[in-house]
Amino acid sequence: MMLKPLITIIIGARPQFIKHQPLQEALEKSSQIRVLHTGQHYDEKMSKVFFQELGIRTPDVELSVGSSSHGQQTGKMLELIEKDLQQERPCLVIVYGDTNSTLAGALAASKLQIPVAHVEAGLRSFNRAMPEEINRILTDHCSELLFVPSDTGRAHLSQEGIKKGVFFVGDIMFDAVLHFREKAHQESRLQKTLKLETEAYYYATIHRPANTDSRSNLQNIISAFGALDFPVVFPVHPRTAKMLQQYQISFPKNVLPQDPLGYLDNIVLLENAKAVLTDSGGLQKEAFYLKTPCLTIRPETEWPETIDQGWNQLISPERDSIIQALSNLEVPSEQRPVYGKGNSAIQITEIIMNWYRTCNSQQGIA
Ligand code: UD1
Repeated sequence: MMLKPLITIIIGARPQFIKHQPLQEALEKSSQIRVLHTGQHYDEKMSKVFFQELGIRTPDVELSVGSSSHGQQTGKMLELIEKDLQQERPCLVIVYGDTNSTLAGALAASKLQIPVAHVEAGLRSFNRAMPEEINRILTDHCSELLFVPSDTGRAHLSQEGIKKGVFFVGDIMFDAVLHFREKAHQESRLQKTLKLETEAYYYATIHRPANTDSRSNLQNIISAFGALDFPVVFPVHPRTAKMLQQYQISFPKNVLPQDPLGYLDNIVLLENAKAVLTDSGGLQKEAFYLKTPCLTIRPETEWPETIDQGWNQLISPERDSIIQALSNLEVPSEQRPVYGKGNSAIQITEIIMNWYRTCNSQQGIA
């Protein structure tokens, strides 16, 4: 009988906890999983709440690297992940998305010649000033299995010469939305607590350095929120909170700042909002799945299909552009399912198990 493969999965930042839940559930039936949490996100509200709400089991290893410069943070992770991989020698390392934890996991594994599987491969913003763009490109180029969420992802990889090991599996965040949507509506109370009528408020999140680390951009965005016709629910990322304080920007009366929210509150507030304003990658897709129109305050997106279908638009961080875009908001009447069917985790599991069987039988022949 074939032994269950030992697979190490690297997580570390908020969106990775969400992506990890469906895959852990699907994969642990057929393999032995070891989970390493780098500690890139460490606050109760940026990390722990997701484990509790989504029922993710406690990581096997917590590296607790915390915040520092990109080089220092990635370097610390690289060293600690390498140590663990050397001891455990898994047959595969799985990484998600495009954060510093993703790159550190992929680099540590590939330097030990342990194959890497990249979930959410092939995405590109074509903006190399974004740390995430560098993380994605490098991770894709050292991965053996590349799970793309969209056809665009496959095309980008092909343009860069990566054609082998690429699988379209759809977006794993769609799995999570389908799985937790009902629970979210049953359990989340925040909309009621804030006394918000459905489609009579906006939902906003801002955390990209391009928006938060520029006084004028952040001021323009907050000032636009203040000029809107409805309340704006605004969960504030720790970096954004720090910069708002540093620039002494205060909240207009209709803005309702919140601590970072858990997944369930996020889903309900997003689904019931009139529109979402964000610079997050994850929220653009979640808005699409929940059929809430989205304004992305960025010059580009890794999810162009949401724009092509009219559910999302790119807006510059200028007060009038934001106000105008919302006053001209049109909600499309339909949607094409470009990011799969919400069964990404099962597909990834099948592909990994086939890959493992093939590797085993080749080793047997050798
Ligand atoms: C990271 C990812 C980004 C992802 C985002 C999701 C990289 C390069 N960026 O960005 O792609 O969209 O996560 O949220 O990996 N902080 C806390 N408590 C925490 C975590 C962070 O206070 O638990 C503060 C620290 O001051 C830190 C800052 O937030 O310096 C930024 O955190 P960091 O993990 O470096 O980047 P994110 O902006 O969260």
